[in-house]
Amino acid sequence: MSGPVANDPAVTGTAVSGPAAAGALPATPATPATPASGAAQGGPGEPDRPAGPLLEVDGLTVRLPIEGASRPVLRDVSFSLRPGEAFGLVGESGSGKSMTARAIDRLLPARAEVSGAIRFDGRDIGTLSGADLRRYRSQVAMIFQDPRAHTNPVRRIGDFMTEALRTNLAVPAAQARAKAVDMLAQVGIEDGARRLRQYPHQLSGGMLQRVMIAAALLTGPRLMLADEPTTALDVTTQAEVMAILDDLRREFGLTMLFITHDLELAAAICDRTAVMYAGQIVEIRSSMLLHDDPLHPYTAALAGARPDIAQTARRLRAIPGRPLSAFEALPAECAFAPRCPHARDVCRAAVPGPLEIGGGMSRCARAHDLRGRLGAVADG
Ligand SMILES: Nc1ncnc2c1ncn2[C@@H]1O[C@H](COP(=O)(O)OP(=O)(O)O)[C@@H](O)[C@H]1O
Ligand code: SF4
Ligand SMILES: [Mg+2]
Repeated sequence: MSGPVANDPAVTGTAVSGPAAAGALPATPATPATPASGAAQGGPGEPDRPAGPLLEVDGLTVRLPIEGASRPVLRDVSFSLRPGEAFGLVGESGSGKSMTARAIDRLLPARAEVSGAIRFDGRDIGTLSGADLRRYRSQVAMIFQDPRAHTNPVRRIGDFMTEALRTNLAVPAAQARAKAVDMLAQVGIEDGARRLRQYPHQLSGGMLQRVMIAAALLTGPRLMLADEPTTALDVTTQAEVMAILDDLRREFGLTMLFITHDLELAAAICDRTAVMYAGQIVEIRSSMLLHDDPLHPYTAALAGARPDIAQTARRLRAIPGRPLSAFEALPAECAFAPRCPHARDVCRAAVPGPLEIGGGMSRCARAHDLRGRLGAVADG
């Protein structure tokens, strides 16, 4: 994928859609039923075979017109998602998390300049258009932070939920409604038939987010992009919605990119977590190791800034300064250097490249020196 990306106006704005017609991407079942696994499943009696990544983001750089100039909002973002994996993307506001999800769903602003590649099942999605692009989108479910902003207030829940099934997969209306009622039951909404007749304003925020999850799963996606799906909800509702999302992801064998500003939440539900700062991924780590053995000072700072109910006497450490957007970062130094307690001359000599370390990736020039000293936001 290179040069400006023209998003197809016929499909933008519909996060879950896809035609039934044959095309270059394989058709998906209307009801997902693949078991979760890090490996592709063989047929009966066949051993599991190792699977390649479902999604590969490779050197993704996105520039947008900002204040009259073309400026970067994502810089050389690379990661891959194995089939069935839950992968967290964490960072402060403005770090580029949503932009990454939008690039994956081909929903970037029309004037975005994109370089690098995004491959789904080995195929560059930057080359897709028309029916192929719609088919790709039917395999990618997007769940947003604010469900109300993504529903039409004058359309009934039933019409919203069944639209993609009816128009893209040619499922008859009565059957589509029956599937919607079944899926509502899966997200804990038992009176689905009544809910389908209601309008978004008649549902609470938590209920509406469950409807969004159910709607997203109806077309049988393989990848779920969940962009801060619980941030707008109160704490108890957050926990309910998170539990539903996690259960259904496992049940349907979905691969998930889970976007959040909450490091601990990502670590709790994801196999691996990537940490973003100023439009770059600065660390990728197994979630189990992220807290006790971080590989980047920013990860350690994020962990130290969060209250921990098990350590009530611990003083929280605010991260000094403010987060930078990608376009504010100096082009030839570590973007975190102005806030980093470990910054040295080497950090200001060049932008640190990705370094494989400890089974993960760090973009810290001092990652080896600091290894083992970052867990408690130690002094450099
Ligand atoms: N439509 C847009 N035009 C120009 N800049 C944008 C647009 N949308 C987002 N940005 C900028 O891109 C950067 C990344 O934004 P975003 O991905 O939404 O961050 P996050 O989701 O991590 O909070 C921010 O600096 C933001 O101001
Ligand atoms: S490269 Fe230097 S400034 Fe950047 S995070 Fe590492 S120690 Fe801190
Ligand atoms: Mg966002």
